[in-house]
Amino acid sequence: MQFTSEFELPRRDLLAGAVVSSTLAKAGSVAAQPVAPAAAALSNVTFTVNGEVRSLKLDTRTTLLDALREHLQLTGSKKGCDHGQCGACTVIVGGRRINACLSLAVMHEGDSITTIEGLGTPDNLHAMPAAFVKQDRYQCGYCTPGQICSSVAMGALNGG
Ligand code: FES
Repeated sequence: MQFTSEFELPRRDLLAGAVVSSTLAKAGSVAAQPVAPAAAALSNVTFTVNGEVRSLKLDTRTTLLDALREHLQLTGSKKGCDHGQCGACTVIVGGRRINACLSLAVMHEGDSITTIEGLGTPDNLHAMPAAFVKQDRYQCGYCTPGQICSSVAMGALNGG
């Protein structure tokens, strides 16, 4: 049994094709050049964080998590996935737990926000972090602040 190839490409045509595809690829890369980003739009936002009124002037694209961590130096809330999947960034807003990485800071004008830093002091812990300590439930500890904030908010919803 003999196999024959119905596809034959003379060397000249192969080279011509390579030149054409190379030229098209280069033209495509020029067309795909990124457009310079527009200047950042800044906005003022005022909210209460852990009982203290805070006012910030932020790029409107700033997430609540970045506002807390980078502008207010409240680094207890952690950035894990930054995609709303891990819960490490959980904070309490108006009594409800939210993923701070999925929420823009400017959406929280006038809101009351509680982070892990707002749940007591080392000498006077809120009952939930105290229970985590007592039961040794920290695991690696990275997402523990989010777990505690979630637990507190869930308790609040259930009257606890
Ligand atoms: Fe993972 Fe926000 S950082 S849910």
